[in-house]
Amino acid sequence: MSHRAKQARKLTMTDIILKTSRIGVLMGGLSREREISLRSGAGCLAALQSLGYNAVGIDVDRDVAEKLRGEDVRVAFLALHGKYGEDGNIQGLLEMMDIPYTGSRVLASAIGMNKVRTKQIAVFHKIPTAAFEIFEPGQDLGAVCIKAKESLRFPVMVKPCEEGSSLGVVKISEPEELVDVIMHTCADYGCAIAEEFVEGDEITVGLIENRRTVTALPVLQLKPSSDFYDYEAKYNHGMTEFVVPAEIPDETATHAQELAMHIHAVLSCRGFSRVDFIIDSEGTPQLTEINTLPGMTETSDFPAQAKAANIEYEELVQKMLRTALLP
Ligand SMILES: Nc1ncnc2c1ncn2[C@@H]1O[C@H](COP(=O)(O)OP(=O)(O)O)[C@@H](O)[C@H]1O
Ligand SMILES: [Mg+2]
Repeated sequence: MSHRAKQARKLTMTDIILKTSRIGVLMGGLSREREISLRSGAGCLAALQSLGYNAVGIDVDRDVAEKLRGEDVRVAFLALHGKYGEDGNIQGLLEMMDIPYTGSRVLASAIGMNKVRTKQIAVFHKIPTAAFEIFEPGQDLGAVCIKAKESLRFPVMVKPCEEGSSLGVVKISEPEELVDVIMHTCADYGCAIAEEFVEGDEITVGLIENRRTVTALPVLQLKPSSDFYDYEAKYNHGMTEFVVPAEIPDETATHAQELAMHIHAVLSCRGFSRVDFIIDSEGTPQLTEINTLPGMTETSDFPAQAKAANIEYEELVQKMLRTALLP
């Protein structure tokens, strides 16, 4: 049998398995991004149902294992964001329950959720990312703040190490404000990172994988009406202008796509991801973070990137579903 014919047969098998399996769209969950996840989940569930899949919504709570068994879920479509959903926890549970699921596995999810660990791996692989300091539990935070004030160029962005949707992200221009903001961020979120502010165009690159071939979607540029792409700018219609393909030189866009594929690969992500950058004054895309379960709401970036590649929302959801059966 030719390679092509084999591939066609394999694809058909994947589709047959998915069309005949009960699919659970896992949404909601226990993170601070619960509301966003419910919006992502509602969109994905509607898409799967209209494509003819036997899909059911599962609102994730502590009893998720019982719900999955009760609904006889055979394949999990993850529309979760943040803690327990995007960080390897639900992935570990699903591994144990032997239920295939969309997107990255345990390790890549856990690292991708953590901005510090992602950036450390990026630095190791020479992927450009802004200078940063870490503030972890058990450290003398005052002493680290003194070090950060000396080593970092202000303004800086202070962020929780493991959060999303711009929750807890604060821009600080004055070094004297650092201690207070760090204390608050650590008290609220456990761990903080202070990263040099990169002045420039904000872009994001969506990646989707089909049997180990990773394709980069057209680069999306974000023009928030606020100071940066904060929670309000992300989820309110009209507060952020999407420009896709981005108004940046072709070489910069290609470079950003290559860097996105590089970080996706070195973190051993699977299926899809969305990688965020800010282009510095020299034209270099500086990595800010990777999202292993990108938002799928009506104002989210990932569906907009797909649309620019002529992939409509439903088709994107179907491509995401297929990643559950990737090796
Ligand atoms: N180093 C930075 N320089 C400039 N803006 C930043 C920087 N880091 C984050 N931002 C702004 O804050 C937003 C949220 O930060 P991000 O690291 O993407 O966290 P989240 O996981 O909450 O989306 C970004 O979309 C961007 O607008
Ligand atoms: Mg982000």
